[in-house]
Amino acid sequence: MSYSKRILVTSALPYANGPLHLGHLAGAYLTPDFYVRYKRLTGADIVFICGSDEHGVPITIAAEKEGVSPQDIVDRYHEINKKVFEDFGISFDYYGRTSSKVHHQTSQEIFTHLYEKGFFKKKTEKQLYDPKSDMFLPDRYVKGTCPNCSYTEAYGDQCENCGTSLSPAELIDPVSALSGEKPELKETEHWYMPLGDVQPKFEGWLKTRKNWKPNVMGQVKSWLNDGLADRAATRDLTWGVPVPLKDAKGKVLYVWFDAPIGYISATKEWAELSGNPDEWKKYWQDEETELYHFIGKDNIVFHCIMFPIILMEHGSYVLPENVPANEFLNLEGKKLSTSRGWAVWLHEYLEDFSPDLLRYALGTTLPESKDSDFSWKDFQVRVNNELAAVLGNFVFRAVSFTQKFADGKIPQLVDPKKTDTEALQSINTQKEKVTNAFESFKFKEAITEAMNLARIGNKYFTETEPWKTRNDDLQSCMNTLHVSLQICAALSVLMEPILPDSMNELRNQLGYKEIPNWNTVSDSMLIAGSSINLGEVLFTKVEDEQIESQISKLEERSATSNPTSKFTPLKTDIQFDDFMKLDIRTGEILEAEAIKKSDKLLKLTVDIGVETRTIVSGIAKHVDMKNLKGQKVSVVANLAPKKLMGVESQGMILMAEDTEGNLKFVDTNAEPGSTIT
Ligand code: MF3
Ligand code: ZN
Repeated sequence: MSYSKRILVTSALPYANGPLHLGHLAGAYLTPDFYVRYKRLTGADIVFICGSDEHGVPITIAAEKEGVSPQDIVDRYHEINKKVFEDFGISFDYYGRTSSKVHHQTSQEIFTHLYEKGFFKKKTEKQLYDPKSDMFLPDRYVKGTCPNCSYTEAYGDQCENCGTSLSPAELIDPVSALSGEKPELKETEHWYMPLGDVQPKFEGWLKTRKNWKPNVMGQVKSWLNDGLADRAATRDLTWGVPVPLKDAKGKVLYVWFDAPIGYISATKEWAELSGNPDEWKKYWQDEETELYHFIGKDNIVFHCIMFPIILMEHGSYVLPENVPANEFLNLEGKKLSTSRGWAVWLHEYLEDFSPDLLRYALGTTLPESKDSDFSWKDFQVRVNNELAAVLGNFVFRAVSFTQKFADGKIPQLVDPKKTDTEALQSINTQKEKVTNAFESFKFKEAITEAMNLARIGNKYFTETEPWKTRNDDLQSCMNTLHVSLQICAALSVLMEPILPDSMNELRNQLGYKEIPNWNTVSDSMLIAGSSINLGEVLFTKVEDEQIESQISKLEERSATSNPTSKFTPLKTDIQFDDFMKLDIRTGEILEAEAIKKSDKLLKLTVDIGVETRTIVSGIAKHVDMKNLKGQKVSVVANLAPKKLMGVESQGMILMAEDTEGNLKFVDTNAEPGSTIT
């Protein structure tokens, strides 16, 4: 099997403007680490690169908020994030940063090369300018009233109140967020990448890509269907990589132009450090290299379209073999949000639990092909029922029995029975399944199949009853221990990519000094007669109180956070099909009466075109009985009937609830019976 080319793996460079949370780990760091660790074990020539993304408006905004310089911000978070990755065992070969000299030079060289080839289109256009601060304003730096919801603090790129994407020109009464002055339109020049012009060539390349995930290819195709537009490669800002042209004073490279080049600069710095400065060229300029970008789905357009086009037009770089992007991870059923405090910070997690537990729990709920959800209860179940009860328990039984009844030495296998040989055989079959899953980036599957080997081992141990055979059939007891220890040895390699610390401990118990190569995993890895050492229990159970305290920490944080919006957070995404199951109709209220003994409920007779319904609705306190007759409403017409205070309600009236808790009708001027879709 093991033919493998040279491989270069990158993880999206996180912005150095804040600490990292669970969503980051699940999005772009854990899966490449699983992959790289697996590949390294096979002996592959592989390099794993990441670093801090230290440019861009998010950094300068964080700096302004704190009243410090952007350099202060990136220095701080570069160190913090680098450390948390180390603590989680994310095994980068090098963790660079885009404020480095090598990076500035590399991105300027690439820009200049493209410039000399005539790639860029220079355009003059009018942009918002703050005369008082003497600078052009990035979209984020313009504030005004949202044309959609009238929120007065909307930003030039988005209204955080209603979520609408905006451009600064759409804001009503725009002002500079820096000075409060009204911005002027002023001419400025920028260098654009004419992505549309190279689209046909790019599509030709894309056709040669094999095995891309459908969620990734789907997004790429939809960008291409809309037609690629020109995109500016430069910005009027002071923080960033200066544009290396004489007529570009006060301009820097667009952050999404320079950041991905950070992968190249970091590889250069890695090569320099490893004593062979030209070594980076093998990974970036030799066609035998396979390049993989691991990212979250919000980065797809940049890694699958823009950066490949930059590299393709440059002409001397390797283009990605695959971009296995993940979808989003939700937390306890809600979207992660740092501003609302709905997040689990990685450094805080480490105060309470060990890294392996989260690596495993997240690994089993990865958003590989659709958004997924992390919950603390599920974390507890994974740790207790799988890591502790299956893997840890099995290892403990095998090792402690050997210690007690076989003098701490691996027994010989003599005259094995069918159950013994079958259990041994499962090592090979499970290894093959795990290998195939890793090779096709199906990490959840890899974890399940590796854990299945522990399940098989645990079941085998129970069924062969060595605590009995020890008295009446000693050889059969010794065979159980031999087979179980062989399974443990295989697990200590197959599970290494997921659980590096615990498998290291397991290998110590089995007497390994070094990690065996993946290709040597077999049913006879341990030699009879060699010694094992009783060590620590690999996993301890997580108690209910520990989980409750995590959940209340999360809830407290979100209750006391200072959200930028007064509205309730958005619910998690549903599929189109889920939505299409609803039958919503225009209705007209024909009659209304109060329901006795209830101060909330009204009994309404509603004409929904196709028929007349009786609907019980909890709106008594919010409406004026006199005005109900003739009121047009939206009705969920296919909600299963339900009895409320003795009256059968045959549907539901939709109401809009504002931030003060007032309910208002969702009015429509369509005729009753009209469907609302
Ligand atoms: N900083 C970006 C983000 O967090 C990712 C940059 S990836 C790179 O979304 F390619 F630009 F490096
Ligand atoms: Zn708005």
